[in-house]
Amino acid sequence: MATIVGCICTSHIPAIGGALAKGLESEPYWQPFFDCFPPVRAWLDRVQPDVAVVFYNDHGLNFFLDNMPTFAVGAAEEYLNADEGWGIPPLGLYPGDPKLSWHVMQSLVSEEFDPASCQRMLVDHAFAIPMQLLWPDKGSGPRASVPIAINTVQHPLPSPRRCYKLGQAVGRAIASYPEDLKVVVVGTGGLSHQLEGARAGHINKAFDLLCMSKLVDDPTALIRYSIDDLVETKGSQGVELIMWIAARAAMTGSVTKIHSNYHIPISNTAAGLLVLENRDPPQFM
Ligand code: DHB
Ligand code: FE
Repeated sequence: MATIVGCICTSHIPAIGGALAKGLESEPYWQPFFDCFPPVRAWLDRVQPDVAVVFYNDHGLNFFLDNMPTFAVGAAEEYLNADEGWGIPPLGLYPGDPKLSWHVMQSLVSEEFDPASCQRMLVDHAFAIPMQLLWPDKGSGPRASVPIAINTVQHPLPSPRRCYKLGQAVGRAIASYPEDLKVVVVGTGGLSHQLEGARAGHINKAFDLLCMSKLVDDPTALIRYSIDDLVETKGSQGVELIMWIAARAAMTGSVTKIHSNYHIPISNTAAGLLVLENRDPPQFM
């Protein structure tokens, strides 16, 4: 059977791709951000996931305002990261696992979720930058991924409660997959951030740290918030927390915190990293 080895919640700020392309990792601005990744890569080396299931939000590369699914599951043989206009190098193709994707779809629909199934899907920076951070050498990464997009662009957005339930359902789908696969679940997005308007650059460190701590020990504490609460508290793009909530909810048992980091700001955004190992399946020592 498939097992979830753990989850990784990380930022996906496009400027990270620029810093990597220019080799700026040890510059003073970037070092406190990039320094948190070697321990995560060491953990990934230890657990060796076969597949990554990635909750991310498309920002207009694949879906636009005229056609915006609330939830969309990638079911393609491969996913292309194309140019979005950020001035960063596109990262090419990522192999999919349609069989696992369709199993997840089947399981979600039987649990009364109605995601779009995408047999063709471009993946934007919110998918590709975290993949690049976690597996700088693409060949060393998981053999496939299943991208799951959550709408954070065109209101109404799904609530934290709904995304928690989605994550739980995805966790059950993975746990019921008959192949012996090790799956890492990834949730991408910033903590506080607002890119536009009078509050551009708004960051609420206290609330971000509260969210990070609740994600470890008490994730359901976060489902009481509405989307409007998140916008007000942590900025209009701070709603990207819902991807982290979904990823955390996919953990099928109790978790151990492997690593975390919080650094402000990167660009306009609070950059966070949280790695949780599932305690119930075998430990990967
Ligand atoms: C930034 C953050 C994001 O989450 C994003 O999708 C794009 C840009 C930023 O802070 O620059
Ligand atoms: Fe974003």
